[in-house]
Order: sequence, then C-alpha cells, then structure tokens
Amino acid sequence: MTIDPRLTASSPAAPISENGLFQADVWDGLGASPKALPAKYFYDAAGSILFEQITVLPEYYPTRTELGILDERGSDIAALVPEGAALVEFGSGSTAKLRCLLRHLPGLSAYLPVDVSGDFLREQAEALRGDFPELTVEPVVADFTRAFELPEGFGGRALAGFFPGSTIGNFEPGEAARLLDVFGRILGAGATLVLGVDLVKDRAVLEAAYDDAAGVTAAFNLNLITRINRELDGEIDPDSFAHRAFFNEAASRIEMHLVSRRAQTIRVAGRSFVFAEGESIHTENSYKYTLDSFRALAARAGWASLEAWTDRDGLFSVHALRREG
Ligand code: SAH
Ligand code: AVI
Repeated sequence: MTIDPRLTASSPAAPISENGLFQADVWDGLGASPKALPAKYFYDAAGSILFEQITVLPEYYPTRTELGILDERGSDIAALVPEGAALVEFGSGSTAKLRCLLRHLPGLSAYLPVDVSGDFLREQAEALRGDFPELTVEPVVADFTRAFELPEGFGGRALAGFFPGSTIGNFEPGEAARLLDVFGRILGAGATLVLGVDLVKDRAVLEAAYDDAAGVTAAFNLNLITRINRELDGEIDPDSFAHRAFFNEAASRIEMHLVSRRAQTIRVAGRSFVFAEGESIHTENSYKYTLDSFRALAARAGWASLEAWTDRDGLFSVHALRREG
C-alpha cells in the first residue's frame, strides 16, 4: 500500500470523490510497468466479508495466533493504556481483537474504529454498541493513508492506538515508517500503540497461508476485478486472471498477483490496457519481520519499544510502543 502525500499536508483531504480516486489509482496502476494496484481497494463490502472468511482458514495462522497472544497478555497490555483513554483502532475490520482486549480495559472511555470499508464498519460498530452499551463507539470511515479527522470531542482526551492484524505489513517499510509517524502525530507524545506484526518463517507455511486449499484468498484477490467492473465500468473477464502468491525471500514479503491467463486488452472507464500472456498485476505485499527488524523500523518512526510478545511457536508478534517526544 502507498501513502498519499497529501496525508502530511495541513489542509484536509483533496475534494476528489472516492470513486474519482479509485479510477485515478486504477488507471495509474494499470498504466505502470510493472502493473500494480493499491491493496486498500480489496476492501469493499464483499472484500471485507472475504477477509473475515480468510481469518478462520486452517492455513491462515495470523488471526488465531494473534488472538491467542492478546488473550494471554491482555492484562499486561491493558496496564500500558491510561485509565479513561480513548482507543483508536486503525483498520478495525470485524473488531474481533478489540472484543478480546475489552474485558481487560474496563476504564476505556471510548473506542474509535477507523476503516475504509464504510458499510462493514458501520455494521460492526452497531453490533459492538449492542454488546457493550456502556462503551462509547464512534466509527470513522476514512482511508488512514490520507488526511482524516477524529470526531469532535476527542481532542483533549488521552488517546491510545491499536493496529492489529499485521496490516502494517501491507506497506513497504519506508511507507510503514511514515504511517507510524503519522499515527504518532494523531495520538500524541507519550501515547501507547499496540500493534500486531507477522514474523518471518518457513516458506511453505507462509505460502499456504496466502494460497489456501479452499480458494478463499484467490476469491479475495479476484474480487478486485469484480469491484473494478462494477464501480469503474470495467469490462474484464475475471476468469481470464489467476491468483498467485509467493514468498519473496530477498524482500521478506509475500507478494500477491493477478496473472493474465492470455494475451488480452482490458478496458476500465474508457481506457484500454494491454496484457501479455502471464503478465501480472501486483495487488499486495505482506511484509514479514523479525522482532528486531520491526523494532528498528518503529524507532525510525519515533516509537520506542516497550514490550513484544510472541506465541510459543514464534509465528506472530504483538508490540507495545511508546511515542517519543
Ligand atoms: N484489524 C482487523 C482487520 C485487518 S484487515 C484484524 O486484525 O483482523 C485490514 C483492515 O484494514 C480491513 O478492515 C480494511 O478495510 C482496513 N484498511 C485497509 N487499508 C486501509 C486504509 N488505507 N485506511 C483505512 N482502513 C484500511
Ligand atoms: C490485512 N492483511 C494484514 C492481510 C495479510 O495477511 O497481509 C491481508 C491478506 N491478504 C491475503 N490474505 C490476507
């Protein structure tokens, strides 16, 4: 994923409609060499549901492993969140991980889930309010790689951040550091940020997690084409593309691609893009870190490491960071 340069500007996000941005990003990405699309566009309503299906696949170890760490270390994590703080979750999805932490955080004054998948976010926030009527839940529909504002009334309150799921891994390391720095400026000096980071491991385990036997990850990847067809007047045959995922060890990342099964020309919003047989669209990176390589990245972004917890098998990590300054 890439961060829009306007994020760091002091003015609000540019007044371009979301669909206008989607079209511009798709035109840019398909016009580039090699072809690539931003991973954030996976998450329309269907994409969010497909991701939830991925999280319970036998091959997809990150979600259940992180939930295990949060469950086991919940009271240690809670001790780092100030009483009365509001918790901002970046890329909240199903909010399952917040639900796991909540029983350790009775002093939380509010929960602010931020997500780009608007309908899904509103549904999850409503369900959370139903299950925890005493908790103030204020959903923020926003792309956190662009300028966005927290709702009014939270300016003076202590804020803590939560960024689980290893969504940080979907950004190139330089972009990830910039994003962490932006989160630090939103949360303020001295704030705690708890985030999940997937770890480097055996290639076979990694590749199975991104190419499951049931084909759910393939459907998640191919849903991008369905979304382009629906929202951008695309004329792309989804069957003409195949899902491919592999571990690029030199870059320490899983790469996902949509590979054209044949030579073809596709049309999106009135523009044509030519594909050779076997040419791919690079749709996602998922970087894998060691504890130390992630601590070094966080330090570059102005965050000191307080603690890092892993599961017994060393598959996944949860870091607690403190904003310096
Ligand atoms: N935190 C959840 C979900 C992780 S999936 C978990 O740990 O299971 C990634 C989530 O981030 C999705 O809900 C997706 O919609 C959201 N997301 C991805 N890119 C985003 C962006 N640029 N801005 C806001 N939300 C984003
Ligand atoms: C959200 N993100 C951390 C997931 C990951 O593992 O990189 C998205 C995903 N892509 C394919 N499967 C899951």
